[in-house]
Amino acid sequence: NPGIYTEMYRPQYHFSPEEKWMNDPNGLVYHEGIYHLFYQYYPDDIVWGPMHWGHAISKDMVHWEHKPIALYPDEHGLIFSGSAVVDKKNISGFAKNGETPLVAMFTYHLMEGEKSGRDDFQTQGIAYSLDNGETWEKYAGNPVIKNSGIRDFRDPKVFWYEETEQWIMVLVAGDHAKFYSSADLKDWRYASDFGKRQGAHGGVWECPDLFALPVEGTEEKKWVLLISINPGAPNGGSGTQYFIGEFNGKRFTSNQKEPKWLDYGTDNYAGVTYNNTPDDERIFIGWMSNWDYARDTPTEKWRSAMTLPRNLGLRKVEDDYFLVNYPLQSVDDIAKSVLARLDDVKPNKQETIYLEGLHQSQIKFKTASKDFMLSIKNASGEKVDLIMDSKSESLLLDRMKSGQMSFQAEFGNKKHYAPIQRLGKEPYEVSIFLDWSSIEVFVDGGLYAMTDQIFPTEPFNELIVENKDSNHAIQQISILGMQSIW
Ligand code: FRU
Repeated sequence: NPGIYTEMYRPQYHFSPEEKWMNDPNGLVYHEGIYHLFYQYYPDDIVWGPMHWGHAISKDMVHWEHKPIALYPDEHGLIFSGSAVVDKKNISGFAKNGETPLVAMFTYHLMEGEKSGRDDFQTQGIAYSLDNGETWEKYAGNPVIKNSGIRDFRDPKVFWYEETEQWIMVLVAGDHAKFYSSADLKDWRYASDFGKRQGAHGGVWECPDLFALPVEGTEEKKWVLLISINPGAPNGGSGTQYFIGEFNGKRFTSNQKEPKWLDYGTDNYAGVTYNNTPDDERIFIGWMSNWDYARDTPTEKWRSAMTLPRNLGLRKVEDDYFLVNYPLQSVDDIAKSVLARLDDVKPNKQETIYLEGLHQSQIKFKTASKDFMLSIKNASGEKVDLIMDSKSESLLLDRMKSGQMSFQAEFGNKKHYAPIQRLGKEPYEVSIFLDWSSIEVFVDGGLYAMTDQIFPTEPFNELIVENKDSNHAIQQISILGMQSIW
């Protein structure tokens, strides 16, 4: 169906629901050639409401096919965020005729319970599919984890832990994470807590994820715990922090006291990773919005989109470990046509280029310059600026004049800031993905990422590159047209 989603602001190569409200990605799992994307979905309005799991499938996580709603609310409550696994050995016993069950674990949110003033209104339930996600049955024994009176008790992420041959689950309980284990996905045993006194605590913890990653270029392996937090992100509202540490099947430990952030933009929240990917790749998708203004953004038919799918890696920089995130190869595959190449922008020089199609493109270049500014503009003078500033050692993303902003006070009231102390002296790459209502910036292979929504009133068509460094050029600047995925 080429060209069917051409409404103002409709992302052309990011996933968005055909219509109505979407928030967190849920149940990210790969099985038999298909990547599933479930998501928090309210089919009756473009603001948050009683949650369902919407569903889409893909072979490459870039081109998506919309599917019918997978999970509906039931007598135990609304269907909040969660995850899905492939039960290869049918340990759950859900398959009766040799099928391989997909098992989803999610939070039930009981509105009546919340209204009655009780604190135990969130419990955990499971559902299974015997036809690779096409149809789902709720488990008759739900809920599988009851609530002992914890108000925020949600977002279970399940994964298989080979060493003890058990399922491990991590969920959040207000200001910390809780770990559980299970042999059959139905009976869950509490194991441990993490985080009351570590990391950021400016808001409630949400949407955890735990996985091991190799350190780039070494045999070393570390465990990473992702925790979304709302509010309390470095540039306001919702954001995703992470902890690097160890996990022994029961307990996650980390000597990290200060938070580390996966993305310094304001629009990458509740992101989690795929289970069961073919080559053990760790692939992340986030919700490209922020609870500060998610309900107010100026779209009418649908609301919000997902980030580009990103590969996660671990990099050691000066004795410390950092998560890097960078779009998948399959995203490069839709960046085919070269719209323009610019000559090097020499030290203390500036170049301007006018270009149709800039608003749906990838801009990339290499440089060792730590002082430059990129302005992405349209004919009305609306713009987004990306500023690298060596004095303050920061990268700034400025959407304060980017178009529509008055829908919410905080949306355009300040520049978004990322510290860049870890950037070395060598030339590094900057890669920027522009879609009709978003910008994603990746510096040095994703050591720094910034994701922001933007709502320009007409397409961007002008790029100004100003190099303020007196020693280093900005090199190999190319602008690639991104194909529409629909
Ligand atoms: C995160 C979140 C989750 C919850 C879901 C409800 O954005 O608040 O904690 O499960 O959204 O839609």
